[in-house]
Amino acid sequence: MNLFEHTPIVLGVTGSIAAYKSAIIASRLHQLGAQVHVALTDAAAQFIGPLTFEALTHNPTLRDVLALTAESEIEHVTLAKRARLIIIAPATANTIAKLAHGFANDVISALALDTRAPILLAPAMETGMWEHPATRQNIATLKQRGVFVIEPGSGNLASGAQGTGRMAEPNEIIAQAHQLLARGGPLAGKRVVITAGGTREALDPVRVIANHSSGKMGYALAAEALSRGAQVSLLTSVEDLPNPFGAEITRVVSARDLLQAVLREMRGAEILIMAAAPADFRPAASADQKIKKEDRAELTLALVRNPDILGEVARVRAETPADAPRLVVGFAAETNDLLQNARGKLARKNLDWIVANPVPQTFGSANVKATLLKRDGTELDLAPLPKEELARVIFDRLTT
Ligand code: CTP
Repeated sequence: MNLFEHTPIVLGVTGSIAAYKSAIIASRLHQLGAQVHVALTDAAAQFIGPLTFEALTHNPTLRDVLALTAESEIEHVTLAKRARLIIIAPATANTIAKLAHGFANDVISALALDTRAPILLAPAMETGMWEHPATRQNIATLKQRGVFVIEPGSGNLASGAQGTGRMAEPNEIIAQAHQLLARGGPLAGKRVVITAGGTREALDPVRVIANHSSGKMGYALAAEALSRGAQVSLLTSVEDLPNPFGAEITRVVSARDLLQAVLREMRGAEILIMAAAPADFRPAASADQKIKKEDRAELTLALVRNPDILGEVARVRAETPADAPRLVVGFAAETNDLLQNARGKLARKNLDWIVANPVPQTFGSANVKATLLKRDGTELDLAPLPKEELARVIFDRLTT
């Protein structure tokens, strides 16, 4: 589920050099399908022109607190009512002070006073202004009133000095926006742990044993859980997929890394989904130096068993159920006897659900064929679906 799709969002831009980054925010939100309406203060318009935003969002910008729409409605009032979220990025010390005191003498402060949508502020200013007791108090007042503030980072400031006051990066702001839109979803307040990708087992410092898992299924599941309001911990070996907005990412390499991460992260989680393809075996010894071919015609590798991660989860579940997730979901990718093998794994690994996929047909293909098998014997055979759709169906089933 893409929470940005068709969602009216106001992006308020105030007068700071960080305003150039607002163009990136506007562009990403538009690409994600949001209806983006940019409001600019006069000072902001000196840093970045309305035309930039109009070209990026395909909507007129709001400049004038007294402007009327084509239907003779007051523009900012109409948007204050329609918007699902107001992002003010960058938010200057001046705008923050106005919001804290209820001023409404420019288009952004007027809109912020009138709206009942959540407000997300990304402050940007010099360190002295950020640390000043007036700003501290204004920020505290706004937070107390339920305004969300993305703390500025430290680095180069407009003055050339180094310090705290740099606006958060556009990606972080969009991730926060996504979390705000997902609030109140069916998984709000719940932790979901998802594993993704294959593992890499070192043979020597330059070679690994790996597999073809792309990790896309795990990433689609993470995005779906996030859009339902969950707090998501994604344990992944994948480097080339964009991080789902708002997920906490833990990078893993080997199956043993993944085991440690799963045992740590699953405490207090509602759901664990093992979409990863951990290697069942690893080299018995990983050489300290690169293995040379010398005059060998063949090389025989000795492999030893890796831990069965779901098997370990089942053990914790049996011994200390409070440390294990309420629902545990596995995957079974099989070349033959798909359902029979999947039923066996469901029982052996003490799972609540298993998602059975025929391989190699699903590798790299846009659509995935899957059957969902539940502990009580229910089996749901699905038509081939894109991974995002399959993720939606899986969560629909898990949470009903
Ligand atoms: N899995 C796991 N630990 C492993 C290997 C797999 O927890 N060392 C998980 C996978 O993430 C998946 C499920 O177990 O959710 C089934 O994986 P699969 O490799 O099909 O099962 P195996 O038990 O390894 O069975 P086999 O390889 O013999 O088919």
